[in-house]
Amino acid sequence: MVAAAKVVAPPAVRPWQTSRTLESHREIRACHLDQHQSSRARSFRRLAGLLSTVLVAPSRARAARATQPREKANKIALITGASTGIGKATAQELCRSNMYSRIILAGHNEAKTKAAMDEMGPVAQTTELEYLPLGLASFKSVRQAAKQFQDMNLPLHTLICNAAVMALPQRQVSADGNELQLEVNYLSHFLLVNLLMPQLVKAGTDDDPARIISVSSSAHFVRSPLAFGDAADLNLSGGEGDRYAYYPWTAYGQSKLAQVMFTYELARRLKARGLPVVANALDPGIVDTELQRYLPTKAPSALMKLSKTPDRGADTVVLLATRDAGRGSGGYWVDERLSESLGRGKSPMPMNAELAVEGTTSYNESTWTELWRCSSQLVGLETTI
Ligand SMILES: NC(=O)c1ccc[n+]([C@@H]2O[C@H](COP(=O)([O-])OP(=O)(O)OC[C@H]3O[C@@H](n4cnc5c(N)ncnc54)[C@H](OP(=O)(O)O)[C@@H]3O)[C@@H](O)[C@H]2O)c1
Repeated sequence: MVAAAKVVAPPAVRPWQTSRTLESHREIRACHLDQHQSSRARSFRRLAGLLSTVLVAPSRARAARATQPREKANKIALITGASTGIGKATAQELCRSNMYSRIILAGHNEAKTKAAMDEMGPVAQTTELEYLPLGLASFKSVRQAAKQFQDMNLPLHTLICNAAVMALPQRQVSADGNELQLEVNYLSHFLLVNLLMPQLVKAGTDDDPARIISVSSSAHFVRSPLAFGDAADLNLSGGEGDRYAYYPWTAYGQSKLAQVMFTYELARRLKARGLPVVANALDPGIVDTELQRYLPTKAPSALMKLSKTPDRGADTVVLLATRDAGRGSGGYWVDERLSESLGRGKSPMPMNAELAVEGTTSYNESTWTELWRCSSQLVGLETTI
């Protein structure tokens, strides 16, 4: 009998961060002194040093990796949407971690994914990269991809549900009849996780459970029927002004909230069944990627100047996929720390904070159960975990 998954403990304090801040202050003071001492060349060198301290400061995952002995690469990961953005950066970092012998990049654009794999070549010396065709706008494709992976007869240590589309201006419907963001971002991942559960269970152990990581978003704070505990029309098929009307951000936010609630319910079920698999969700922050491709106007450049690079956006995913922190279950993570989602936490985005109104929560267990029931029905699964 396999023991239940461990409960997430808050991550340790980050000593490197404190010393980095102190060091930065010292450096700044030293820069000022230098100016008074009229040695411009010395000031310039110091400033360059300061910038490299701040800009090239390692993430927690990277800092930990640098001080840890290298483990033998023997794990297998599957990432959805690794042709670009956070998914591609994650695959690259998992190669660097030296913990993964094989990474499956699952996506719907073969040429783009293979080009990304070629770029990763130099860092993938101990890791085999493989393309798996997976179109998340079609359950048929999800089932085919799951079957293709199952036929490889491999265990699956880490499944990263990353691919998404954001805020489509008009409501679009998949071949399965679902609103597109709901299907691509959430329902297809729900199906994939359930289909690949035997491979995850095969890979997990009590000490090192298999990991399901869902890349959600602070947009899950956006007001939506699900946020009020209403899963009756996840497809937002109502007309203008209706409670279930389609708005681009409502649909995106609701799909991201579904990922968070799904993670909580999944963690509960895995624990109840004593399976050696854990589930966590995260918000990567604002990251400069292709995700804005459907927005009629791009985000203000002032905001994007503050955004993370894809590498930085991948930090929390990589932490959960490679470090002990990722052995806990049922957590919502932001900036490499355990955090709180809608109903307890605060959205880091001011505009989303306005939208998260009283009565909305991600912590209602009966909503999790109802969401699970509706999702099983929509994807056509009679048996789930
Ligand atoms: N960027 C941000 O600021 C931000 C903030 C919060 C959360 N997130 C979350 O982070 C995750 C990654 O986003 P990103 O910023 O890296 O976006 P991105 O650059 O647009 O990458 C999205 C990935 O999903 C794939 N994809 C889209 N539709 C698909 C479909 N029907 N079937 C299979 N794959 C599909 C894309 O493939 P193609 O390019 O080949 O179409 C691409 O590989 C998403 O879950 C997103 O919601 C991002």
